[in-house]
Amino acid sequence: MTLNKELIDKIINITSKAAISCYRFVGKNDKKNADKAATDSMRNEINQLEINGEVVIGEGELDKAPMLYIGEKLGKGGNVNLDIAVDPLEGTNFVAKNLPGALSVISIAEKGNLFNAPETYMDKLAVSNKVPIEATDLDFPVEKNIHNIAESLNKDINDITACLLNRPRHKEIIDKLKKMNVKLKLISDGDVSGALMVTDDKYNVDIFLGIGGGPEGVLAASAIDAYGCKFQGRFIFDNDKDISRAKQMGIKDLKKKYELKEIIKGDSIFCASGITTGDLLKGINVKDNKYITETLVTHKSSNMCKIVIREDTIKT
Ligand code: FBP
Repeated sequence: MTLNKELIDKIINITSKAAISCYRFVGKNDKKNADKAATDSMRNEINQLEINGEVVIGEGELDKAPMLYIGEKLGKGGNVNLDIAVDPLEGTNFVAKNLPGALSVISIAEKGNLFNAPETYMDKLAVSNKVPIEATDLDFPVEKNIHNIAESLNKDINDITACLLNRPRHKEIIDKLKKMNVKLKLISDGDVSGALMVTDDKYNVDIFLGIGGGPEGVLAASAIDAYGCKFQGRFIFDNDKDISRAKQMGIKDLKKKYELKEIIKGDSIFCASGITTGDLLKGINVKDNKYITETLVTHKSSNMCKIVIREDTIKT
């Protein structure tokens, strides 16, 4: 087994360290340097591993980030060939403004098993594993998805919660959901967390939907796979630059709806470490000369979905 326990511990170390590196920028209103700190740490830590890694989902032009770019080769080399998806800082606004929910995120799979996605938006749907897979679909009208979820969960529609990014582009969906009297969870940023909230009843989210970053969609999908929940995504290529990049990356059908199994195959490890405390995880806590980090870890083949707490001594 390539993606073994030893590797899981190393991946936890990577997002924990990136979160710690970013921590000094919390509340400093400096998105760029916060992202750079997390990115530099992540690159540095991955490069210590004896792996042949390649970034298939990286940071990009969306925010002119100091990228870990798509196609970048990482690691010291060896026989372990991995695809790597990264979002060293998911929620740059959260760190800059000291708001809840910033994460450092990574997902890895064996070579060829993680979707190689461009930096575009993606229309997404994520639904709890308590709802039969065929009950919802990205192409169903939103009303049909909500009705089917309510029926499957034996809940009133007023008790169904839908999570989506609070954006003008979602006005139509939000209006429809309001008309149906669905509870809305409108998030300002951070749709990796938004999508992951369908994985456990404790978050009280029945469906995540709407348009957000494509890379964030692929990262969320890899964790959702370990929970056995539903995820579908459709990239949005609506300008010449994105269309030509998609073609260069070998995407033939630009309107294709991707099922979870087309985005992530085989075994995978997903880690998200909290930077600022949010719905999913506690942020960095400094105590007794130590950084305490919380990391959500999933490992597909061992059905592992757990939160790991670590302490790192502060170097003086
Ligand atoms: P950053 O951390 O790169 O700023 O992304 C935050 C985020 O909210 C993502 O979670 C989400 O997928 C994307 O931005 C949505 O993009 P936009 O703000 O353009 O709607």
